[in-house]
Amino acid sequence: AAPLNIAVAGLGTVGAGVLKLLQAQADLIEQRCGRRINVVAVSARSKGKDRGIDLSAVRWYEDPVAMAADPAVDLVVELIGGSEGPARDTVATAIETGKHVVTANKALLAVHGTDIARKAEAKGLTVAFEAAVAGGIPIIKGLREGLAGNRVSEIHGILNGTCNYILTEMRTTGRDFADVLADAQALGYAEADPTFDVDGIDAAHKLAVLASVAFGTPVDFASVHIEGIRQVGAIDFDYADQLGFCVKLLGIARRTDTGVEQRVHPCMVPKSAPIAAVDGVFNAVVAQADFADRVLFVGRGAGAGPTASAVVADLIDIARGRSTPTFGVPADQLGAATPSPMESR
Ligand code: HSE
Repeated sequence: AAPLNIAVAGLGTVGAGVLKLLQAQADLIEQRCGRRINVVAVSARSKGKDRGIDLSAVRWYEDPVAMAADPAVDLVVELIGGSEGPARDTVATAIETGKHVVTANKALLAVHGTDIARKAEAKGLTVAFEAAVAGGIPIIKGLREGLAGNRVSEIHGILNGTCNYILTEMRTTGRDFADVLADAQALGYAEADPTFDVDGIDAAHKLAVLASVAFGTPVDFASVHIEGIRQVGAIDFDYADQLGFCVKLLGIARRTDTGVEQRVHPCMVPKSAPIAAVDGVFNAVVAQADFADRVLFVGRGAGAGPTASAVVADLIDIARGRSTPTFGVPADQLGAATPSPMESR
């Protein structure tokens, strides 16, 4: 079969990780999808930087939007980040010019996800985003495909690796907040702007995307209640511990009689709960489903390897010719199957 020609926009931690994975596993990937996945173009701000990968045979673009319009490209991998600007324009151009998109960009999906899905689906294109939520955990596929026969009533979990790493280090070593945050940045866990991590915004982006997939409702970031971890200190860990709890930043989304409730804030989690033991950069998501009952997903929530693993899973899916509605139900029907009580009366 003809190779799948892909272009990668953004060569930060995740972008470089994706190129390394594609190189290291090229034969295995070809065997699994029956065709090669070729990187034909890349774009990043600095060309000269040594990323430990050979880019000599690849077309280099300064402008990711121009790259997205290149007719030699079948699929654009967007790893720039941010809900507006070049990331948004790159995805829009890819779709306008008939290309599939794989993205790790939760901010973009949280704000424009429903609109992007509508535009892509109208053209028969796939927008895949396994890497946008919970790093290496296959949570999008887990909810959308694995639990496709269920109604999910609640999801909750640890959705930000940086915060979980900070809370874990502060609790177990007594180190201070700024010190541990610098660590998380050095390890490639934190967002370009780490206030998105520590103020709960990144977790809220992911929660809004997850809620849409879990409940079949339009992505609704604007209604997420958000509180981060800046106020959590040593005294909180001590009291929680004495009472038999752990402090975790959780994202919680519930289907209620009046719609979907979504919130992100520090929580007291009983030590007996499985997610209390999920420490460091690990993430966890618990889904309450009507037939499968309770399902728990755990894995590394950030970092080059785990996030690249999720990006490549989407690439393989598309190379195999698989296509699933972006958020599990066709974008023009999001919300239709779950009318509010007012509408159904
Ligand atoms: N900054 C994010 C985190 C990266 O720490 O979870 C993964 O989305």
